[in-house]
Amino acid sequence: MRVGLEALSFYIPRYYIDLKTIAARRNEEAGKYYIGLGQEKMAIPAPDEDVVTMAANAAAQALQGKETSSISTLLFATESGVDQSKAAGIYVHSLLGLQPNCRVVELKQACYSATAGLQLALALVAQNPKQKVLILASDIARYGLNTAGEPTQGAGAVAMLISSQPDILTFDPASGTYVEDVMDFWRPNYLEEALVDGKYSVKIYLKALAEAWNNYQANGGFSFHEFTRFCYHLPFTRMADKAHRHLGKLVHEQDLSDEQVKAHLEEGLRYGRSVGNVYSASLYLGLISLLDNASDLAGQRLGLFSYGSGCVAEFFSGVVAENYQQHLDSEGHRQLLHDREELDYEAYSRFFLFHHPVDGSESLAGHFKTGKFRFSGVNNHQRIYEKTA
Ligand code: CAA
Repeated sequence: MRVGLEALSFYIPRYYIDLKTIAARRNEEAGKYYIGLGQEKMAIPAPDEDVVTMAANAAAQALQGKETSSISTLLFATESGVDQSKAAGIYVHSLLGLQPNCRVVELKQACYSATAGLQLALALVAQNPKQKVLILASDIARYGLNTAGEPTQGAGAVAMLISSQPDILTFDPASGTYVEDVMDFWRPNYLEEALVDGKYSVKIYLKALAEAWNNYQANGGFSFHEFTRFCYHLPFTRMADKAHRHLGKLVHEQDLSDEQVKAHLEEGLRYGRSVGNVYSASLYLGLISLLDNASDLAGQRLGLFSYGSGCVAEFFSGVVAENYQQHLDSEGHRQLLHDREELDYEAYSRFFLFHHPVDGSESLAGHFKTGKFRFSGVNNHQRIYEKTA
């Protein structure tokens, strides 16, 4: 039986900052970000958006025109959850009006957890092909103003519907994983911004890629030349370039040419370059970027690498379906990226520094541009969500 992606969409905040603005503020050359990190724009959430509203917006788009009664499970993957106890997915379940017998849970492992969700979903659907699983990956990447990580922030959500009707992509059974207890990036409960050992995190990412690839090979995976494209977890798009050259060297014992790297990666980097890091959603935003922007990929095998600091990594693969284009909202995705408002540094830092009081007293988020759902504020320690007009 084939199991895979029946629907796939994303949502990003309606505001962004150009990395030229950040560079100017820091007296640095824009080339450091545009070329050195491969990042041009960074999506910035307004005070009335969070991981719940972004995920609900992505899901509403992915499920448009679909019958939702067969969704038996909702898996919410995030690093930036809004509650230590209640799963963010329960708010989404309510906003979308999903059926009451659909189980909901939140998954955490830095940027990796949506891939764990994917593996769980594949098993659930294989067990009962009539059920569908909705995976939501939603994150706000925060390192802090004027930190080394600041230019690699971002925000957004991806929604994936996994079923036995894989109209977009079928996943292959083999995968390769790697786990190591490392402190490259983490966020203690008392901090809103991640702590990171940046240079070390890049090294560990590359080590985890090699280890996951070796495990994928040991588990009967496909060889390098059987893939036409590769998608990597994208903390910044230049990371994919580093990763792919590293993997190429491991496999071929010589450097890949610039042309080979470009041919394997380019279309998958476009959206990430304009959005920034979306942690758990990054790899899958890259996959959407590839499917939306490459010319016909039907029947082609894609290599996918997921990495979550701390760390867990996984290499896996899938084959693109015939006529997959008909099941994507490529025009809607481009429109979403296009219809955004640029922020200057002052407006960006105001959004960044906005906080609700932590005593639970009534506090409104204010009205900004959002999608179909918004976070109106807090009352009595409870988060209030609503549909927009
Ligand atoms: N023109 C062109 N390139 C330039 C330039 C210019 N004017 N100025 C500098 N550069 C290049 C540098 O040579 C460098 O290139 P190399 O990587 O090839 O050496 C690149 O721009 C970046 O410059 P620096 O290394 O000096 O940048 P930095 O010290 O500010 O740190 C960073 C970069 C470590 C990625 C930092 O942004 C950071 O800590 N980010 C957060 C952590 C992160 O994203 N880690 C990724 C792996 S972990 C992961 O993937 C999980 C996750 O999502 C967090």
